[in-house]
Amino acid sequence: MTQSNLKFGIIGLGIGRNHLASLQEIDGIQIAAICDTNPDVLSRIQKQYDVPKSYTDGLKMLDKERFDAVVIATPNKFHAPFTIKAFERGAHVFCEKPMAMNTTEAIQMQAAADAAGKKLMLNMSFRYTPAAFALKKQLEQGMLGDIYFARTVWHRRRGIPKLGGWFSTKALSGGGPLIDLGVHRIDLALWFMGTPEPVSVSASVFNPIGTQLAKEQNRTFDVEDLAVAFIRLENGAILTAEASWAVNRAEREFMETRLYGTKAGAVHRNVDQGYDFIAEAFCEENGYFVDKIYRNEFRPAPKSIAHFIDCIRNDREPISSGKEGIKLMKILDGIYESARLGREISITA
Ligand SMILES: NC(=O)c1ccc[n+]([C@@H]2O[C@H](COP(=O)([O-])OP(=O)(O)OC[C@H]3O[C@@H](n4cnc5c(N)ncnc54)[C@H](O)[C@@H]3O)[C@@H](O)[C@H]2O)c1
Repeated sequence: MTQSNLKFGIIGLGIGRNHLASLQEIDGIQIAAICDTNPDVLSRIQKQYDVPKSYTDGLKMLDKERFDAVVIATPNKFHAPFTIKAFERGAHVFCEKPMAMNTTEAIQMQAAADAAGKKLMLNMSFRYTPAAFALKKQLEQGMLGDIYFARTVWHRRRGIPKLGGWFSTKALSGGGPLIDLGVHRIDLALWFMGTPEPVSVSASVFNPIGTQLAKEQNRTFDVEDLAVAFIRLENGAILTAEASWAVNRAEREFMETRLYGTKAGAVHRNVDQGYDFIAEAFCEENGYFVDKIYRNEFRPAPKSIAHFIDCIRNDREPISSGKEGIKLMKILDGIYESARLGREISITA
């Protein structure tokens, strides 16, 4: 493998600082500059990680510096403008999920990548877990047969991120738990199903608990706290999706993507209400029910950022590409639109 040196910039230092830490562990990577609008966060992280330059204005940083690649980990509203600018300046882009605020922005981002001839990878981080990789491999080998129904869920009992901050402010986030959490689980389900095209969606969104909590604390909350969707796919299969930051159920954090196939079924789910995952398959062999568990702990999946670097160095298409991100954004837009209209709507290719 070629270990070319790559100069990185990072914009947004919440989850962005985790990417910084991961990048510093990879040979040949230089973090040339970082950016955050919060000067305290910026100076603390610059010192901690010994980064040569820092900026509070991302567009200015992209204008002044020359990067091989840029990590964009800001609130969702800024994903598209920074991504497009980074491509105009000739960098590859690793952008956090959701890809953008809406499909129109997502298409513009991919067009900028194509015009620059650079790679756009979305951090659909849940794909890059050993259990998901192990299950995907079995699915590619046909273990489930045809998958005709999938149900994908992420629920929290009470887990609104930073109530009143950007996550719960539609103008900055584009939406609530659907665009924040549901995006991961819908992405995972579609990836497991072989990325079929969506045809139509019927959905509803609700916000009783978020609205009440925000009222009690005098905070902004103008997004949903629960989204529920029924998605028809081009191959006749159905995907149902549920995403919430606040529902009344036992688990603090519940994630589950279930697949029902003609030969077997499978689930990818979190363990003990946390962020460790297992995959299980429910098969039939020689007249017996056979259940399997995939952990694959002895051969870990690559971190998503390491996969991005591998794609740059070896000219490969990222597993979670901008093109798949557009498909996902169409579904998210469709869910919000169907909920607004109160009826099923078509999703055009
Ligand atoms: N892939 C994952 O699993 C995962 C996990 C967490 C967050 N995310 C995504 O990462 C992004 C950031 O989320 P977060 O949890 O780090 O949020 P956060 O609020 O914790 O951090 C965001 C940081 O960006 C800074 N910022 C805000 N506006 C900026 C701007 N215009 N330019 C530069 N910096 C700016 C803020 O000061 C803050 O330090 C979101 O899109 C979120 O959906 C993805």
